[in-house]
Amino acid sequence: VSLRPYNTFGIDATARYFASFDSPAVLQAILEDPKWEGVPKMILGGGSNILLTKDYEGLVLKNEIKGIHILKEDEEHVYVQAGAGENWHQFVMYCIDKNLAGLENLSLIPGNVGASPMQNIGAYGVEIKDVFYELDAWHVKDQQLVKFSKEACEFGYRESVFKRKYKDQFVILQVTYRLNKIPHFNTSYGAIEQEMERMGVKELSIRAISDAVIQIRSSKLPNPAEIGNAGSFFKNPEISKEKYEALKEAFPAIVAYPLPHDQYKLAAGWLIEQSGWKGYRDGDAGVHAKQALVLVNYGHASGEELVELSWKVIESVKEKFGVVLEREVNII
Ligand code: FAD
Ligand code: EPU
Repeated sequence: VSLRPYNTFGIDATARYFASFDSPAVLQAILEDPKWEGVPKMILGGGSNILLTKDYEGLVLKNEIKGIHILKEDEEHVYVQAGAGENWHQFVMYCIDKNLAGLENLSLIPGNVGASPMQNIGAYGVEIKDVFYELDAWHVKDQQLVKFSKEACEFGYRESVFKRKYKDQFVILQVTYRLNKIPHFNTSYGAIEQEMERMGVKELSIRAISDAVIQIRSSKLPNPAEIGNAGSFFKNPEISKEKYEALKEAFPAIVAYPLPHDQYKLAAGWLIEQSGWKGYRDGDAGVHAKQALVLVNYGHASGEELVELSWKVIESVKEKFGVVLEREVNII
């Protein structure tokens, strides 16, 4: 089966076996089938955060569990549960339509609900851990349902237990978010306020924030339907205060944000741009011209070519700044 339609990088790799499931029962039946015993398995959502470097010699399981339900509510909150196969942005729009606040800053992130806890998706000052309540996952080996509280997910910056410790061990089935009846607007990311002003927004609302985020994102991130990509290829590196101060002295224009515990987060896009990579292209593999943190496939680049390019970027940023970039995308 060609995986090209199933990954936003547009990599032309194949899967030996492919199956989709739209309910936990169907998933269970597939996993119990002796035919698949010992065959490696990979869970696939929208394919917007993977880079396929070769053909997959196992079973790709595409999660298509749908459904959105309001589970319960209290004075301040509404608990909304969504199937892992729901499209993320459509889910965000559903919540905004119902005037449920908390996800508006995360508008227009590609992919599905089921992957949102995987790397604790984040944008414009919000991460899903801020509104996450719990999730149901299926343990592939034990064939049983396990509930994960927020603490059990061990969320960090673009991290959770599912990305490393329990990689490929659990299939996330559905996720419950605790949304706010009364919004706590988050416009701390400067560009949001500027954009709302430009748009002539008179009254702050979750819809206005969502619209601004959509505008900003569309202006700099490549649309995977036009240019293959998986969003930020690297994480923004976190460094110590000492290291930051030394860099600041050598590079006064460096872009950084203070974190708790005397740490600083550097804008990797700036480091990559300053290393001369922005707009670089070799064959069909390149560095996006409007956002250097995003590697792109102009058509027929292979996963290996993109990994190759990412090594070159890592090398040169390390040489210039002494900072080692870590990949954010899941390399397969
Ligand atoms: P996939 O790519 O299908 O899967 C990603 C990983 O999660 C894989 O390892 C897969 O095995 C695993 N997985 C997927 N579903 C499940 C499941 N149900 N159970 C268990 N494991 C599962 N991310 C951000 O955080 N912030 C951004 O602002 C952002 N912007 C982006 C912009 C663009 C243009 C693109 C292309 C990507 C961007 N991303 C961003 C990355 C991506 O959208 C997110 O990581 C998203 O959550 C991936 O969802 P998906 O369904 O496509 O996951
Ligand atoms: N910058 C440059 N040159 C570039 C790109 C960025 O100088 O080519 C500098 C700019 O000064 C800019 C700063 O870096 O002000 C930050 O850039 P931006 O606001 O575009 O965000 P980012 O740090 O590059 C992160 C996330 C994005 C998320 C945005 C918005 C990571 C790895 N990436 O990018 O997430 O959408 O912030 O919150 O944390 C993703 O994970 O795939 C992703 C796109």
